[in-house]
Amino acid sequence: MTWVIGNWKSNGSIAQQQTFAEVLRGYKIPSETHVVLCPPITLLYPFHQSLINNDIKLGAQNISATESGAYTGELSAEMLKDSGADFVIIGHSERREYYQEETVLLAAKFRQATTAGLRPIFCIGESLLARKNGTADGYIKQQIDDIVAATDISAWENALVAYEPIWAIGTGETATSKQISDMHQHIRNTFSKHSATIARTLPILYGGSVNPNNASGIFSLDNVDGGLIGGASLHIDDFCQLIASTDTA
Ligand code: PGA
Repeated sequence: MTWVIGNWKSNGSIAQQQTFAEVLRGYKIPSETHVVLCPPITLLYPFHQSLINNDIKLGAQNISATESGAYTGELSAEMLKDSGADFVIIGHSERREYYQEETVLLAAKFRQATTAGLRPIFCIGESLLARKNGTADGYIKQQIDDIVAATDISAWENALVAYEPIWAIGTGETATSKQISDMHQHIRNTFSKHSATIARTLPILYGGSVNPNNASGIFSLDNVDGGLIGGASLHIDDFCQLIASTDTA
């Protein structure tokens, strides 16, 4: 199976939602492809209503670390489920960097998600400095070991991992095929130290400047189970081409 997951980040309007819904309602998803769209929260329920009975699933981009209650501004796992989400992105590098989200908080979010039956899309990725000075493997292993220690490997049964080198996000610069395959192998090996069963089935997605031109090449690499796509997922034509490219991957 190949995953195409769109991450709209803090973008999108009602008008854009309507255009997407209109095209996607009639769009034939290839049978070996999973499509998930993660719009901003304001568009989650409109998408849920307009894509009902469609193969496209929905995700949120963030989740509260606590249950529903007196936490002004927070969106709990139950609320996300209620609005139509089946997935949630956790640990995106933008949240780690701009909102200081670290392992303890991410683990609490992960637990909230899995307890409510939401599937986490857990993001990991190294900085340009780590890539340049040869410490990327060690950094990624540490990110995995830390979150697994804080959550328990058994909670990963329905999770997905997105490897997103920070230097490739929104920059137009993708990692090379070798960098991607090597790192995905390394990620799978690292998970296998925690559980061979989880490591075997865990979808590992690549993210970072995936677009309709490079998608099928990336999706066909060893150990790559699809992509987490930002910029290109905002354009309906590109998004449809990304989905179609899984057929050739
Ligand atoms: P990008 O973003 O495709 O715009 O590089 C990917 C992501 O941050 O998930």
